[in-house]
Amino acid sequence: MSLIKSRDIKTVGIVGGGVIGSGWASRCLGAGLDVIAYDSGPGAEDLMRENIDNAWPAVEKLGAASGASRDRLTFAGTLAEAVTAADFIQESVPEREDVKIAVFRDISQHCRDDVVLASSSSGLLPSRIQSQTTGPERLVIGHPFSPVYALPLVEITGGDQTSHDAVMAAGAFYKKVGMRPLHVRKEIDAYLSDRLQCAMWHEALHLIDEGVATVPELDAAITGGPGLRWAVMGMCLAWHAAGGPGGMRHTMEQFGPALDLPWTKLKPPKLTDDLREAIITGSEDEAGSRDFREIERRRDACIVGFLEVLKEHWYQPEEDGWPELETADA
Ligand SMILES: NC(=O)c1ccc[n+]([C@@H]2O[C@H](COP(=O)([O-])OP(=O)(O)OC[C@H]3O[C@@H](n4cnc5c(N)ncnc54)[C@H](O)[C@@H]3O)[C@@H](O)[C@H]2O)c1
Repeated sequence: MSLIKSRDIKTVGIVGGGVIGSGWASRCLGAGLDVIAYDSGPGAEDLMRENIDNAWPAVEKLGAASGASRDRLTFAGTLAEAVTAADFIQESVPEREDVKIAVFRDISQHCRDDVVLASSSSGLLPSRIQSQTTGPERLVIGHPFSPVYALPLVEITGGDQTSHDAVMAAGAFYKKVGMRPLHVRKEIDAYLSDRLQCAMWHEALHLIDEGVATVPELDAAITGGPGLRWAVMGMCLAWHAAGGPGGMRHTMEQFGPALDLPWTKLKPPKLTDDLREAIITGSEDEAGSRDFREIERRRDACIVGFLEVLKEHWYQPEEDGWPELETADA
Protein backbone atom coordinates (compact mmCIF):
# COMPACT_ATOMS: atom_id res chain seq x y z
CA MET A 1 0.00 0.00 0.00
CA SER A 2 1.52 3.33 -1.00
CA LEU A 3 1.29 6.23 1.41
CA ILE A 4 -0.86 9.29 0.79
CA LYS A 5 1.00 12.14 -0.95
CA SER A 6 1.63 15.23 1.17
CA ARG A 7 -0.30 17.40 -1.31
CA ASP A 8 -3.41 15.30 -0.61
CA ILE A 9 -3.18 15.64 3.17
CA LYS A 10 -6.10 17.79 4.31
CA THR A 11 -6.88 16.47 7.79
CA VAL A 12 -4.41 15.81 10.59
CA GLY A 13 -5.24 13.56 13.53
CA ILE A 14 -3.66 14.63 16.80
CA VAL A 15 -3.58 12.14 19.67
CA GLY A 16 -2.66 13.75 22.99
CA GLY A 17 -3.48 17.45 23.20
CA GLY A 18 -1.12 18.77 25.87
CA VAL A 19 1.72 21.22 25.29
CA ILE A 20 3.03 19.44 22.20
CA GLY A 21 -0.26 18.19 20.79
CA SER A 22 -1.65 21.75 21.04
CA GLY A 23 1.52 23.02 19.38
CA TRP A 24 1.06 20.60 16.47
CA ALA A 25 -2.59 21.57 16.19
CA SER A 26 -1.65 25.27 16.07
CA ARG A 27 0.95 24.66 13.35
CA CYS A 28 -1.36 22.50 11.23
CA LEU A 29 -4.33 24.87 11.61
CA GLY A 30 -2.00 27.73 10.66
CA ALA A 31 -1.06 25.80 7.52
CA GLY A 32 -4.73 25.78 6.53
CA LEU A 33 -5.43 22.14 7.42
CA ASP A 34 -8.30 20.57 9.35
CA VAL A 35 -7.35 19.04 12.69
CA ILE A 36 -9.18 16.35 14.66
CA ALA A 37 -7.78 15.93 18.17
CA TYR A 38 -8.27 13.35 20.89
CA ASP A 39 -7.05 13.60 24.48
CA SER A 40 -8.24 11.32 27.25
CA GLY A 41 -7.51 13.79 30.06
CA PRO A 42 -10.21 15.74 31.96
CA GLY A 43 -10.79 19.26 30.64
CA ALA A 44 -8.43 18.58 27.76
CA GLU A 45 -10.49 20.33 25.09
CA ASP A 46 -10.67 23.62 26.99
CA LEU A 47 -6.97 23.58 27.76
CA MET A 48 -6.10 22.75 24.19
CA ARG A 49 -8.22 25.59 22.80
CA GLU A 50 -6.66 27.96 25.36
CA ASN A 51 -3.17 26.82 24.26
CA ILE A 52 -4.06 27.41 20.62
CA ASP A 53 -5.48 30.87 21.38
CA ASN A 54 -2.25 31.84 23.10
CA ALA A 55 -0.21 30.54 20.16
CA TRP A 56 -2.32 32.18 17.46
CA PRO A 57 -0.64 35.63 17.38
CA ALA A 58 2.68 33.91 16.62
CA VAL A 59 1.04 31.63 14.04
CA GLU A 60 -0.43 34.66 12.25
CA LYS A 61 2.79 36.67 12.46
CA LEU A 62 4.69 33.78 10.89
CA GLY A 63 2.20 33.74 8.02
CA ALA A 64 -0.96 31.67 8.32
CA ALA A 65 -2.26 30.11 5.08
CA SER A 66 -5.36 31.53 3.45
CA GLY A 67 -8.41 29.87 4.98
CA ALA A 68 -6.48 28.99 8.14
CA SER A 69 -8.75 29.09 11.16
CA ARG A 70 -8.90 27.89 14.74
CA ASP A 71 -12.49 26.87 13.99
CA ARG A 72 -11.14 24.04 11.87
CA LEU A 73 -10.22 22.12 15.05
CA THR A 74 -12.64 19.33 15.98
CA PHE A 75 -12.29 17.63 19.32
CA ALA A 76 -13.16 13.94 19.08
CA GLY A 77 -14.86 11.93 21.81
CA THR A 78 -12.90 8.78 21.03
CA LEU A 79 -9.52 7.83 19.64
CA ALA A 80 -11.18 6.01 16.74
CA GLU A 81 -13.09 9.15 15.75
CA ALA A 82 -9.89 11.20 15.70
CA VAL A 83 -7.95 8.84 13.49
CA THR A 84 -10.40 7.25 11.03
CA ALA A 85 -10.69 10.37 8.87
CA ALA A 86 -7.07 11.54 9.32
CA ASP A 87 -4.58 11.75 6.44
CA PHE A 88 -1.60 12.05 8.81
CA ILE A 89 -1.46 11.14 12.50
CA GLN A 90 0.76 12.79 15.10
CA GLU A 91 0.84 11.25 18.58
CA SER A 92 1.84 13.38 21.60
CA VAL A 93 0.85 11.37 24.68
CA PRO A 94 3.17 11.21 27.73
CA GLU A 95 6.73 9.97 27.30
CA ARG A 96 6.20 6.40 28.45
CA GLU A 97 7.07 3.49 26.24
CA ASP A 98 4.20 1.27 27.41
CA VAL A 99 1.66 4.05 26.84
CA LYS A 100 2.95 4.82 23.35
CA ILE A 101 3.07 1.13 22.35
CA ALA A 102 -0.58 0.74 23.39
CA VAL A 103 -1.71 3.99 21.78
CA PHE A 104 -0.14 3.08 18.42
CA ARG A 105 -1.61 -0.41 18.60
CA ASP A 106 -5.05 1.22 19.02
CA ILE A 107 -4.48 3.94 16.40
CA SER A 108 -3.39 1.39 13.82
CA GLN A 109 -6.58 -0.60 14.32
CA HIS A 110 -8.76 2.37 13.35
CA CYS A 111 -6.82 4.49 10.85
CA ARG A 112 -6.45 4.04 7.09
CA ASP A 113 -3.55 1.95 5.77
CA ASP A 114 -2.05 4.78 3.72
CA VAL A 115 -1.32 7.27 6.51
CA VAL A 116 1.96 7.94 8.27
CA LEU A 117 1.88 7.42 12.04
CA ALA A 118 4.28 9.82 13.75
CA SER A 119 5.31 9.98 17.39
CA SER A 120 6.50 13.18 19.09
CA SER A 121 8.65 11.12 21.48
CA SER A 122 11.65 12.98 22.85
CA GLY A 123 13.92 9.97 22.90
CA LEU A 124 12.21 6.56 22.87
CA LEU A 125 13.20 3.98 20.28
CA PRO A 126 10.79 3.67 17.33
CA SER A 127 11.50 -0.09 17.04
CA ARG A 128 9.99 -0.48 20.49
CA ILE A 129 7.07 1.90 19.91
CA GLN A 130 6.03 0.13 16.69
CA SER A 131 6.24 -3.35 18.23
CA GLN A 132 2.45 -3.84 18.44
CA THR A 133 1.42 -1.56 15.57
CA THR A 134 -0.50 -2.97 12.62
CA GLY A 135 1.44 -1.81 9.55
CA PRO A 136 4.55 -0.88 11.57
CA GLU A 137 6.42 0.16 8.39
CA ARG A 138 4.58 3.52 8.39
CA LEU A 139 5.56 4.49 11.94
CA VAL A 140 8.22 7.17 12.41
CA ILE A 141 9.40 9.44 15.15
CA GLY A 142 8.67 13.09 14.30
CA HIS A 143 10.30 14.85 17.23
CA PRO A 144 9.45 18.56 17.39
CA PHE A 145 10.59 21.36 19.68
CA SER A 146 8.41 23.55 21.85
CA PRO A 147 6.80 25.84 20.71
CA VAL A 148 5.98 23.51 17.80
CA TYR A 149 4.07 26.22 15.91
CA ALA A 150 7.14 28.48 15.79
CA LEU A 151 10.30 26.32 15.91
CA PRO A 152 10.88 24.70 12.53
CA LEU A 153 13.07 21.71 13.44
CA VAL A 154 11.60 18.21 13.47
CA GLU A 155 13.80 15.12 13.81
CA ILE A 156 12.59 12.10 11.86
CA THR A 157 13.83 8.63 12.61
CA GLY A 158 12.53 5.15 11.86
CA GLY A 159 12.70 1.80 13.63
CA ASP A 160 13.71 -1.66 12.38
CA GLN A 161 10.43 -2.05 10.53
CA THR A 162 9.99 1.53 9.23
CA SER A 163 10.09 1.94 5.46
CA HIS A 164 12.16 4.57 3.73
CA ASP A 165 8.92 5.72 2.07
CA ALA A 166 7.44 6.54 5.47
CA VAL A 167 10.48 8.64 6.42
CA MET A 168 10.25 10.51 3.13
CA ALA A 169 6.47 10.93 3.36
CA ALA A 170 6.80 12.34 6.88
CA GLY A 171 9.51 14.73 5.71
CA ALA A 172 7.35 15.95 2.84
CA PHE A 173 4.41 16.55 5.17
CA TYR A 174 6.51 18.45 7.70
CA LYS A 175 7.86 20.67 4.93
CA LYS A 176 4.30 21.32 3.81
CA VAL A 177 3.56 22.73 7.28
CA GLY A 178 6.69 24.91 7.20
CA MET A 179 9.16 22.75 9.10
CA ARG A 180 12.77 21.79 8.66
CA PRO A 181 12.94 17.98 8.77
CA LEU A 182 16.19 16.38 9.85
CA HIS A 183 16.63 12.67 9.17
CA VAL A 184 18.35 10.94 12.08
CA ARG A 185 19.88 8.08 10.15
CA LYS A 186 20.55 5.68 13.00
CA GLU A 187 18.03 4.76 15.64
CA ILE A 188 19.49 5.98 18.93
CA ASP A 189 18.11 6.98 22.32
CA ALA A 190 17.21 10.69 22.47
CA TYR A 191 18.11 11.24 18.76
CA LEU A 192 20.40 14.25 18.06
CA SER A 193 19.14 17.43 19.73
CA ASP A 194 18.17 15.83 23.00
CA ARG A 195 21.54 14.08 23.21
CA LEU A 196 23.13 17.52 23.04
CA GLN A 197 20.59 19.11 25.38
CA CYS A 198 20.94 16.30 27.93
CA ALA A 199 24.70 16.77 28.09
CA MET A 200 24.16 20.41 29.05
CA TRP A 201 21.38 19.51 31.44
CA HIS A 202 23.66 17.08 33.29
CA GLU A 203 26.29 19.79 33.64
CA ALA A 204 23.66 22.22 34.93
CA LEU A 205 22.51 19.72 37.56
CA HIS A 206 26.08 19.31 38.81
CA LEU A 207 26.66 23.07 38.96
CA ILE A 208 23.46 23.59 40.97
CA ASP A 209 24.08 20.55 43.18
CA GLU A 210 27.59 21.77 44.01
CA GLY A 211 26.31 25.29 44.79
CA VAL A 212 28.46 26.78 42.03
CA ALA A 213 25.62 28.72 40.39
CA THR A 214 21.91 29.44 40.77
CA VAL A 215 19.28 28.57 38.19
CA PRO A 216 19.04 32.18 36.85
CA GLU A 217 22.84 32.41 36.67
CA LEU A 218 23.08 29.23 34.64
CA ASP A 219 20.33 30.42 32.31
CA ALA A 220 22.16 33.75 31.92
CA ALA A 221 25.30 31.78 31.01
CA ILE A 222 23.45 30.67 27.89
CA THR A 223 21.00 33.36 26.84
CA GLY A 224 23.24 36.37 26.25
CA GLY A 225 26.15 34.40 24.79
CA PRO A 226 26.20 30.95 23.24
CA GLY A 227 22.40 30.77 23.03
CA LEU A 228 22.12 33.78 20.76
CA ARG A 229 24.86 32.37 18.55
CA TRP A 230 23.21 28.91 18.42
CA ALA A 231 20.12 30.42 16.83
CA VAL A 232 22.33 31.24 13.87
CA MET A 233 24.83 28.41 13.71
CA GLY A 234 25.50 25.11 15.45
CA MET A 235 28.42 24.41 17.71
CA CYS A 236 30.85 23.40 14.97
CA LEU A 237 30.33 26.35 12.64
CA ALA A 238 30.32 28.70 15.66
CA TRP A 239 33.72 27.42 16.75
CA HIS A 240 34.95 27.48 13.16
CA ALA A 241 34.07 31.18 13.08
CA ALA A 242 35.53 31.67 16.57
CA GLY A 243 38.84 30.20 15.37
CA GLY A 244 39.57 33.34 13.35
CA PRO A 245 41.31 32.99 9.99
CA GLY A 246 42.52 29.52 11.03
CA GLY A 247 38.94 28.41 11.58
CA MET A 248 38.18 25.10 13.26
CA ARG A 249 41.78 23.96 12.65
CA HIS A 250 42.98 26.70 14.99
CA THR A 251 40.16 26.01 17.47
CA MET A 252 41.18 22.35 17.61
CA GLU A 253 44.81 23.28 18.20
CA GLN A 254 43.86 25.69 20.95
CA PHE A 255 41.13 23.69 22.68
CA GLY A 256 41.98 20.10 21.66
CA PRO A 257 44.20 19.64 24.74
CA ALA A 258 41.31 20.80 26.96
CA LEU A 259 39.62 17.47 26.22
CA ASP A 260 42.01 16.04 28.82
CA LEU A 261 41.00 18.63 31.43
CA PRO A 262 38.07 18.04 33.81
CA TRP A 263 35.77 20.44 31.95
CA THR A 264 32.76 18.17 31.92
CA LYS A 265 31.18 15.59 34.18
CA LEU A 266 28.48 14.35 31.79
CA LYS A 267 27.16 11.62 34.07
CA PRO A 268 24.35 13.34 35.99
CA PRO A 269 24.35 13.66 39.76
CA LYS A 270 21.71 11.83 41.79
CA LEU A 271 18.43 13.75 41.65
CA THR A 272 17.95 14.22 45.39
CA ASP A 273 14.89 15.99 46.83
CA ASP A 274 17.09 19.00 47.63
CA LEU A 275 18.41 19.22 44.08
CA ARG A 276 14.94 18.82 42.58
CA GLU A 277 13.62 21.63 44.83
CA ALA A 278 16.57 23.89 44.06
CA ILE A 279 15.82 23.61 40.34
CA ILE A 280 12.08 24.08 40.70
CA THR A 281 12.22 27.05 43.07
CA GLY A 282 15.12 28.56 41.14
CA SER A 283 13.08 28.42 37.92
CA GLU A 284 10.02 29.86 39.64
CA ASP A 285 12.14 32.70 41.07
CA GLU A 286 13.58 33.37 37.64
CA ALA A 287 10.09 33.53 36.12
CA GLY A 288 9.16 36.05 38.82
CA SER A 289 5.73 37.61 38.47
CA ARG A 290 5.29 36.49 34.83
CA ASP A 291 2.75 33.69 34.53
CA PHE A 292 3.34 30.92 32.01
CA ARG A 293 1.00 32.43 29.39
CA GLU A 294 2.96 35.69 29.48
CA ILE A 295 6.24 33.79 29.25
CA GLU A 296 4.89 31.84 26.25
CA ARG A 297 3.77 35.02 24.45
CA ARG A 298 7.02 36.92 25.03
CA ARG A 299 9.09 33.88 24.04
CA ASP A 300 7.04 33.47 20.87
CA ALA A 301 7.42 37.15 19.93
CA CYS A 302 11.22 36.78 20.27
CA ILE A 303 11.32 33.59 18.19
CA VAL A 304 9.20 35.19 15.46
CA GLY A 305 11.62 38.13 15.42
CA PHE A 306 14.67 35.82 15.30
CA LEU A 307 13.17 33.89 12.39
CA GLU A 308 12.57 37.11 10.46
CA VAL A 309 16.16 38.22 11.06
CA LEU A 310 17.53 34.79 10.13
CA LYS A 311 15.57 34.81 6.87
CA GLU A 312 16.92 38.24 6.03
CA HIS A 313 20.58 37.70 6.94
CA TRP A 314 21.38 34.03 7.14
CA TYR A 315 19.33 31.56 5.09
CA GLN A 316 20.04 31.17 1.42
CA PRO A 317 17.07 32.62 -0.51
CA GLU A 318 17.09 29.80 -3.07
CA GLU A 319 16.50 27.32 -0.27
CA ASP A 320 13.29 29.09 0.81
CA GLY A 321 14.60 28.80 4.33
CA TRP A 322 15.28 25.09 4.59
CA PRO A 323 17.42 22.57 2.77
CA GLU A 324 15.85 19.56 1.10
CA LEU A 325 15.33 16.51 3.27
CA GLU A 326 18.37 14.26 3.08
CA THR A 327 17.51 11.13 1.17
CA ALA A 328 20.22 8.72 2.31
CA ASP A 329 19.12 5.50 3.98
CA ALA A 330 20.14 4.75 7.54
N1 LIG B 1 7.19 19.42 26.25
C1 LIG B 1 8.21 19.44 25.42
O1 LIG B 1 9.03 20.36 25.41
C2 LIG B 1 8.39 18.35 24.39
C3 LIG B 1 9.20 18.60 23.26
C4 LIG B 1 9.28 17.62 22.26
C5 LIG B 1 8.62 16.42 22.41
N2 LIG B 1 7.86 16.19 23.53
C6 LIG B 1 7.17 14.89 23.62
O2 LIG B 1 5.79 15.10 23.30
C7 LIG B 1 5.00 14.13 24.02
C8 LIG B 1 3.94 14.88 24.82
O3 LIG B 1 4.58 15.77 25.72
P1 LIG B 1 3.81 17.02 26.33
O4 LIG B 1 4.87 17.89 26.88
O5 LIG B 1 2.83 17.56 25.35
O6 LIG B 1 3.01 16.34 27.55
P2 LIG B 1 1.68 16.86 28.25
O7 LIG B 1 1.67 16.21 29.58
O8 LIG B 1 1.58 18.34 28.17
O9 LIG B 1 0.52 16.26 27.32
C9 LIG B 1 0.24 14.89 27.23
C10 LIG B 1 -1.26 14.77 26.95
O10 LIG B 1 -1.57 13.41 26.62
C11 LIG B 1 -2.84 13.12 27.17
N3 LIG B 1 -2.96 11.67 27.26
C12 LIG B 1 -2.43 10.83 28.19
N4 LIG B 1 -2.69 9.55 27.86
C13 LIG B 1 -3.42 9.60 26.70
C14 LIG B 1 -4.00 8.60 25.88
N5 LIG B 1 -3.86 7.30 26.16
N6 LIG B 1 -4.69 9.00 24.78
C15 LIG B 1 -4.84 10.30 24.49
N7 LIG B 1 -4.32 11.30 25.25
C16 LIG B 1 -3.60 10.94 26.34
C17 LIG B 1 -2.86 13.85 28.50
O11 LIG B 1 -4.19 14.06 28.97
C18 LIG B 1 -2.14 15.15 28.15
O12 LIG B 1 -3.03 16.18 27.76
C19 LIG B 1 5.98 13.33 24.87
O13 LIG B 1 6.34 12.16 24.17
C20 LIG B 1 7.18 14.26 25.00
O14 LIG B 1 8.39 13.58 25.22
C21 LIG B 1 7.73 17.13 24.51
